Amino acid sequence: PLVTTTDMFKKAYAGHYAIGAFNINNMEIVQAVTDAAADLQSPIILQASAGARKYAKPSYLKHLVEAALEDHDLTVALHLDHGADFETCKSCIDGGFTSVMIDGSKHSFEDNIALTKQVVEYAHAHGVVVEGELGQLAGIEDDVKVAAHEASYTRPEEVEEFVSRTGVDSLAIAIGTSHGAYKFTPEQCTRNEQGILVPPTLRFDILEEVAKRLPDFPIVLHGASSVVPEYVKIINENGGNLPDAIGIPEDQLRKAARLAVCKINIDSDIRLALTAGVRLHMAQHPDHFDPRQYLKDGRQNVYDLVSHKITEVLGSAHKA
Ligand code: G3H
Ligand code: 13P
Ligand code: ZN
Ligand code: NA
Repeated sequence: PLVTTTDMFKKAYAGHYAIGAFNINNMEIVQAVTDAAADLQSPIILQASAGARKYAKPSYLKHLVEAALEDHDLTVALHLDHGADFETCKSCIDGGFTSVMIDGSKHSFEDNIALTKQVVEYAHAHGVVVEGELGQLAGIEDDVKVAAHEASYTRPEEVEEFVSRTGVDSLAIAIGTSHGAYKFTPEQCTRNEQGILVPPTLRFDILEEVAKRLPDFPIVLHGASSVVPEYVKIINENGGNLPDAIGIPEDQLRKAARLAVCKINIDSDIRLALTAGVRLHMAQHPDHFDPRQYLKDGRQNVYDLVSHKITEVLGSAHKA
């Protein structure tokens, strides 16, 4: 069924695992993510950004999710990713989403509170839950690029006031992750003996301080793709050019999932998996021009990726 995240997060918090929030943009992605979740009996969050709503049209996204629910016995929340304003959130709430994010993180603390509170009031009156955000991630989001030096970690001393004054149901925090496939510049990394880039460790001290101040409260991690090196390699070996793409190492995501983090957002890894499948197929079969042939390989990669995340990173298998 289509559900809110309330029960999912309660169980995830207590069970020391996290729910994957996978960005959906087309039919193949919806199919791959929901097939994997159904096969592993994992609860999932399907999330749509403003860009996804523009690309696929809101009604298509809604009906794709409904089709997946007809096809499978699934526990799914349908979530708006990075809602920028009240109107977008309202449109999703009215359109059957069970969860929305109001991303007021670029505003002042007081303006973020006022905007978030307005969304919470409308959402809760309609049985929908709300994710807010404090702190700013670096990276690319809807073509808005936040430079690393403009990013700012969440200030733990602000979280109790933000949550109590807004009434949000979950909180996204900034502890060093960022959006997109280039989470760290090579200069921010060190190199190991094999010459492989090693990114700086996430600020688990901030996560722990936030968790101490907000007992039993679900925390959300954005920008949490690991930028799977195998897929980057396949892309680069088959006509692509993604130099120095780098993400969050999986052991740090596993650690976050065991702690207060109950929702881990994954978009870039889906894009890379799909692109790697399509590029490899195209390179191996230059005579193919049927989209079903190459999209099938892209979709299979997304299925494999999501299965891996559920079993090896999130720990959410058999929790539906
Ligand atoms: O947070 C950003 C997500 O990866 C969504 O990206 O706005 O390009 O759909 P998008
Ligand atoms: P990634 O770019 O790391 O996949 O992050 C996705 C995200 O945070 C969507 O809101
Ligand atoms: Zn995000
Ligand atoms: Na957790």
